[in-house]
Amino acid sequence: MESRLTSKHLLAIKDISAEDINLIFTTTDTFKDVINRPIKKVPSLRDITIANIFFENSTRTKLSFELAEKRLSADVINFSASSSSVSKGESLIDTVNNILAMKVDMIVMRHPRPGAAKFLSSHVSAKIINAGDGTHEHPTQGLLDAYSIREKYGNVRGMKVVIVGDILHSRVALSNIFCLQKLGAEVMVCGPTTLIPKYIDSLGVRVEHNLDEALAWCDVANMLRIQMERQDIRYFPSLREYTMLYGLDRKRLEKVGKKITIMHPGPINRGIEITSDVADSGQSIILDQVENGVAVRMAVLYLLAGQQAGEEK
Ligand code: CP
Repeated sequence: MESRLTSKHLLAIKDISAEDINLIFTTTDTFKDVINRPIKKVPSLRDITIANIFFENSTRTKLSFELAEKRLSADVINFSASSSSVSKGESLIDTVNNILAMKVDMIVMRHPRPGAAKFLSSHVSAKIINAGDGTHEHPTQGLLDAYSIREKYGNVRGMKVVIVGDILHSRVALSNIFCLQKLGAEVMVCGPTTLIPKYIDSLGVRVEHNLDEALAWCDVANMLRIQMERQDIRYFPSLREYTMLYGLDRKRLEKVGKKITIMHPGPINRGIEITSDVADSGQSIILDQVENGVAVRMAVLYLLAGQQAGEEK
């Protein structure tokens, strides 16, 4: 079996093959064993230096990457735009070249602009991992979500997954759609017409506007947050109305008549897209997603760093 990723960076799930994804998953299995051992650290990335550069807020992704890097024994530096010279007008390329001058090998970047990670990858020599670029993609989230489904059901192929909510502004939705489809799942999106992008038909996903119908169809429901910070116009009359039509509560879940699995990438708006009794229920795998995020990111970092060592030979 191929043990190298075919891609030099991890910029988008759209760009990588099912073989790459499966290689990341089998490597993740190994790292899941590692992080559940009493000694959680391995020396795999000793002498590799990684910079986490975040131009946008993050809790899960930032901490998860940092922990993954430390579990692999990498040297880690963290950069946050709000407390940096970006506020004095320094450009992205200048910022990154200054970081690279400090002998950094890999960059994990979150940025509010779609395409920022790809742009960076064509201007600097380091390996780039996209930790979310605006409304475009969030590849490690797509991977950890699909991995969590694989872990729960043994396989992703043939699973019916509905992604509910603000599809229009969601990089998580796009990375999930590409990842799940490459692995053979059936994907549906559900939400108000105004929050479903016009190009959705070209992605080969089902579209449903009635949440009860979507829940009856699916095995897994991935509930998305309404991204108020990216909405420059009003896409629905009120949050109350959104919750009435697209919020998942215990009553609605019990009406489904079968045990579906509930996911959420976080951060959760409790009481808006999902109630606490559903988010914290036995049907929810939300915290498994977070746990798997560390192992998936360890796998991505390990495979990309290994490829770098191979190329240098
Ligand atoms: N899921 C996710 O990307 O969460 P953060 O914004 O907290 O990183």
